[in-house]
Amino acid sequence: MEVRGTRTTTRTWRRARGRTADRPNRKRRGPPFPSRARRRHDDDAPADPGHTPDVANNNTKRRRSMLLGSGLAFTCPCCGSGGRSERTGGRLYDRYLASALSQDAMASYEKSIEPMKRRLFGGLAGSPNEELTIVELGVGAAPNARYYCDARRGKGDCIVAVDKNQELLNSAASEFDSRGVEKLELLEADVADTGLPSAFADAVVGTLLLCSVRSQDQVLREIRRILKPGGKYYFVEHVAAPSGTPLRTAQDLLSPLQRVVAGGCNLNRNTEVSIAAAFEDGDVTSYRYDVLPGEILFDNGFSLKSEGDGLGLLAPHISGEATAGRCVLTRCLAEAKV
Ligand SMILES: C[S@@+](CC[C@H](N)C(=O)[O-])C[C@H]1O[C@@H](n2cnc3c(N)ncnc32)[C@H](O)[C@@H]1O
Repeated sequence: MEVRGTRTTTRTWRRARGRTADRPNRKRRGPPFPSRARRRHDDDAPADPGHTPDVANNNTKRRRSMLLGSGLAFTCPCCGSGGRSERTGGRLYDRYLASALSQDAMASYEKSIEPMKRRLFGGLAGSPNEELTIVELGVGAAPNARYYCDARRGKGDCIVAVDKNQELLNSAASEFDSRGVEKLELLEADVADTGLPSAFADAVVGTLLLCSVRSQDQVLREIRRILKPGGKYYFVEHVAAPSGTPLRTAQDLLSPLQRVVAGGCNLNRNTEVSIAAAFEDGDVTSYRYDVLPGEILFDNGFSLKSEGDGLGLLAPHISGEATAGRCVLTRCLAEAKV
């Protein structure tokens, strides 16, 4: 299966193509970028050594994790100065975000959410269908890989990892490689306009994505466009707390700050409404829950044990799957219903 119509204008994609110049746009195995590319990136590090992220320092990692989790911090964890807004963007901000979203920095969050993700991705991982095309939008450092890649090994699936942050695509590539994914495409593109062919994917995965995109409706339209009829969109999103609650007040107050320090992330979006509207003619199964210290508490009173610390301002989450028409994956989340 070939990825056609993908962007050729971004640096990442040009590099990827450069390595397969004889077979442009073919899927590649192994690491995405030559080590030379990584070194060149390191050479780009700012002259001020005080700005160099201290990834070896555990305290720094913890601060980064909290930054995204609580929305309270506003100091750049890399250098102690004020964070740069996504509008000013730039490579330094990308590097900062890549660091904040690394597997290490997100470990506590992932621990909190793990039981939920296992349930969500269980259907995808256990599907007997082979050679699935799975598109992960806003892949980050690929924290979801562990939930479906190991189980799908040898099934011949193709994974297309999309992100606008080249640093994160590098991390995602390492993670997918370490899990034995053989057919991997990296696409540096806007998730609102991926350039992927229509009716291309059996499954689209998006976690913690719709909080930060400019237009949820546009991204959801793109998801519908690239999904095959009957394909599934798997999502996990943090959402707004109910109006009038102290948590919602805090989310409303801190959202502008969170947008600056966390890649445009909004704390107070009613994302479930947007997803339901986008899949109005399909089928949406979703759960709403709070991730509190030691437990995941569902709206219906059901709870799951969580090993994590709770998610503070991000506590209200939704997760689930939306089907574009009749389900084509043989085993669905319906089996893993809470
Ligand atoms: C909060 S992170 C979540 C990463 C990962 N999915 C996870 O669950 O940890 C949001 C990711 O979406 C990417 N992203 C946000 N807006 C995007 C856009 N418009 N186009 C492409 N990627 C985008 C960011 O670069 C980042 O990697």
